[in-house]
Amino acid sequence: MSSNEVPNDLNDLPKVQKTEVQKPKLQKPKVQRKVRLEVRIEVRLRDFHQRDFSRLCEIDRLCYSEAIAYTPEEMALGLVQPGAFALVAEAGEQVIAFVLAYRKKRSLGNSVGHIVTIDVVEEFRARGIGHRLMESAEQRLRQNGARRIILEVETENGPALRFYKRRGYAIQRLLSSYYADGSDAYLMEKALT
Ligand SMILES: CC(C)(COP(=O)(O)OP(=O)(O)OC[C@H]1O[C@@H](n2cnc3c(N)ncnc32)[C@H](O)[C@@H]1OP(=O)(O)O)[C@@H](O)C(=O)NCCC(=O)NCCS
Repeated sequence: MSSNEVPNDLNDLPKVQKTEVQKPKLQKPKVQRKVRLEVRIEVRLRDFHQRDFSRLCEIDRLCYSEAIAYTPEEMALGLVQPGAFALVAEAGEQVIAFVLAYRKKRSLGNSVGHIVTIDVVEEFRARGIGHRLMESAEQRLRQNGARRIILEVETENGPALRFYKRRGYAIQRLLSSYYADGSDAYLMEKALT
């Protein structure tokens, strides 16, 4: 049968070999995952030296709004309180966090520690540096005779509130218009065992 002839019977049709149709392989969509690039940096804690003063003021300004950040005068006043101490966290040669605290002298057996501020530069947060600073400050206050610790935290500062609650601090009361811009604070407290 020539190619122009029309077949009478379907059986006359030339046999076409069945070939497998290759289905295009569907590629799984690539899931974009946020990868936290962690560079392991050794962070050391040590006592504050006078030469750290301007860096502490700088970190405080980086961590808070202007209304809440301490002025250098307020920071200096905090450091000269009786029983005051500051611990700094250093990565390489740079101070990247600190805690400032002091122990208020009260009647025997009722001494109170006060965490004035704890500041970790943003890019170094959520690495346990705040935790280490708090542990060391609490230990120092306990050694100095404090039975409980108080601190103030802005009511809208969610990460700090969570941080303190996880470490056993409980809200005692609201301090209305505590900060210069009129924002409120919570007074929080933890009993030292
Ligand atoms: C509040 C503050 C001091 C916490 O410091 P930090 O170094 O981030 O604290 P940590 O890393 O120890 O803990 C923070 C969180 O990170 C988590 N974390 C700790 N190590 C981690 C790691 N290696 N990987 C992932 N997450 C980690 C902790 O579980 C913790 O969670 P939680 O707060 O829900 O308990 C810090 O956010 C800060 O300086 N804020 C600005 C200033 C401020 O608000 N100060 C307090 C008010 S007075």
